[in-house]
Amino acid sequence: MITVAAERELRHAVAKWRGRGERIGFVPTMGALHAGHLSLVELARKHASRVVVSVFVNPTQFGPGEDFARYPRDLEGDSAKLAAAGCDLLFLPEADTIYPPGSTTRVRVEGPSRGFEGECRPGHFEGVATVVAALFGLVRPDVAVFGEKDAQQLALVRALVRDLHLAIEIVAGPIVREEDGLAMSSRNVYLGPQERRAATVLQRSLAAARAAIEAGERDPARLVDRLAAQIAAEPLAHLEYAAVVAADTFRPVERIAGEVVIPVAARFGSTRLLDNARLRVD
Ligand code: PAF
Repeated sequence: MITVAAERELRHAVAKWRGRGERIGFVPTMGALHAGHLSLVELARKHASRVVVSVFVNPTQFGPGEDFARYPRDLEGDSAKLAAAGCDLLFLPEADTIYPPGSTTRVRVEGPSRGFEGECRPGHFEGVATVVAALFGLVRPDVAVFGEKDAQQLALVRALVRDLHLAIEIVAGPIVREEDGLAMSSRNVYLGPQERRAATVLQRSLAAARAAIEAGERDPARLVDRLAAQIAAEPLAHLEYAAVVAADTFRPVERIAGEVVIPVAARFGSTRLLDNARLRVD
């Protein structure tokens, strides 16, 4: 695995591979890598002959008062995990490589950014869309892999690629969970032991919602009420939202049908966690 920070070196390595007819896979990350990220690297390996992973804690996707400064950083650990996972190139850009001095361009994807994370974290998705567009321009991958855990971000990236005619295949990796069901997240390290136990309510409530749909429930309001009540029964959980949305537009559905996502966001103490269930209902 080679590690590069400069744009020139990145372009040189990727151009060399491309010149040999290789297919370039890309996994953008903010580091503090866990098994969920590594599963995305593995998936990229299946879709490409070379895999580039970026680690960049993107300041523009954090709001004022959010955890940018204390976001977990572990470059040495990340680098070792990526080398073992079969990453070919680790890209570690400086902020002024992503945002060249004088840069004023911001990318806003309207539809799927509305509501949910877009409402709870104003400016977040503009930061995500801008950095993803910049990273795509730098790496120029054939295929890029994103996790289904950030389901709204995934819908946004798909819309960005479609609307800007970027010739990049987007592949989604399923959520990877701890043994007790908690979705893996770099932010899980913030949880105290009691919060950590309480946080499993998210997966349990989503599993119950999935079972209700499989048993024939098609009314999103009734489903969300039950899900919210189950989360409210956990004293350490503070639900921010739960809904049933269409997977591609991230708009709430009136009847549960087609490919839907049930996104939930909740706070446990000062830690905000996301989870979701994705299912196809015929
Ligand atoms: O999902 C993430 O880790 C980030 O939002 C991403 C896609 C790497 C952009 O900074």
